[in-house]
Amino acid sequence: MTKKIRVGMIGGGPGAFIGAIHRRAMWLDNRFEIVAGAFSRDAEKSRQMAAELGVDADRAHTSADKLMEAEKLLPVEDRIQCISVVTPNAYHYEACALAVENGFHIVCDKPPTRTLEETIALKELLAGSPSLYALTFTYLGYPMVHEARSRVLNGDIGKIRKVFVQYPQGWLSTPLEKEEVKQASWRTDPALSGPAGCLGDIGTHAFSLAEFISGKKVNSVCADIRSFVDGRLVDDDVSVLMGMSDDVSGVLLASQIMAGEENALTIKVYGETGGFQWSHSDPNTLIHMDLNGPTQILRAGQDNGYLSAQTQQLLRTPSGHPEGFIEAFSNIYGQMADAIVGNGELGEGVGIEAGERVMRFVDAVLTNAISSEKWTEM
Ligand SMILES: NC(=O)c1ccc[n+]([C@@H]2O[C@H](COP(=O)([O-])OP(=O)(O)OC[C@H]3O[C@@H](n4cnc5c(N)ncnc54)[C@H](O)[C@@H]3O)[C@@H](O)[C@H]2O)c1
Repeated sequence: MTKKIRVGMIGGGPGAFIGAIHRRAMWLDNRFEIVAGAFSRDAEKSRQMAAELGVDADRAHTSADKLMEAEKLLPVEDRIQCISVVTPNAYHYEACALAVENGFHIVCDKPPTRTLEETIALKELLAGSPSLYALTFTYLGYPMVHEARSRVLNGDIGKIRKVFVQYPQGWLSTPLEKEEVKQASWRTDPALSGPAGCLGDIGTHAFSLAEFISGKKVNSVCADIRSFVDGRLVDDDVSVLMGMSDDVSGVLLASQIMAGEENALTIKVYGETGGFQWSHSDPNTLIHMDLNGPTQILRAGQDNGYLSAQTQQLLRTPSGHPEGFIEAFSNIYGQMADAIVGNGELGEGVGIEAGERVMRFVDAVLTNAISSEKWTEM
């Protein structure tokens, strides 16, 4: 049996959200093994998580720094090969920079770092280094998102004119950060999340999806950002008009105060002869609207021969068996596994260049929001 890729996880301690999802995504295709971690800054919690995962107690640390120092002392065939970064944003840069310095590969959750400057510095560190780097912009792992992209790029809806993407959530409609909900606390603290709130947290997902499916780049933004909840230190509602390459017009909405909404990311891309619609609420469906014919419902499924070869590769089950969030993460981990064993390359939208674009978008929106100019160039 091929050996699994040895991973050290940074973050993802008891009660953490996305660390647990990353672990399940790694286990899904049996290609990764978590052998070490700095799961928490609290030694007891880090050891508790190690015990739950069957990781040796002496490989449970309290910082990325200590983890890598210890791992470097192990024989190369035992030490970690890759880190998985699932801490709040403020700690991404340090963990990734240390990984590059120590020759480890990196899977990091979004956004790449807390600030644009850190992302640029990380990009410079990665240039020419043997460390591979993948960002988990989750939605780029969904098979029907890839199907939409391949059909748009294939010209199935003609020349692209309009991109509309919305990411509504309602969970921050009240000052949850004051109730010691840790996911809310750090996301609304600029020192930990970065200068953007909702914009950095989910606006970045919407942005990456818009560029990925349309194949167009955002060049300029005209934004309205707000903070509806009293005392909140970051934005919780974002509306952006986007000027995109080839004269495409884009609209991006992201909000965490749309009370009652769950996680209803939806994108529509329109060309001269039709449009595609994909929604996270029904991720195994891609709707093809046709100017001159009936609307088609395209469905995920390994056996659906009308899907592109790449889409089929990202699927694990025949049609009618829903695949979702964990599978999407796993598809990004799969790219990393292939790249590590030299069996493929990391795809569009997951590299540090994509991370830099996202951070430039955040920067441009924040600049525009306080500017008297109508448009701000990215
Ligand atoms: N791709 C997605 O869909 C998605 C979804 C949610 C969160 N995220 C991203 O994942 C990251 C974590 O978010 P979350 O909601 O899981 O947060 P969380 O608060 O639930 O978990 C963070 C974990 O990191 C640990 N931690 C904090 N500082 C640390 C440090 N310096 N070293 C080691 N461990 C540390 C905490 O103890 C906790 O266990 C964020 O960057 C967030 O933007 C991505």
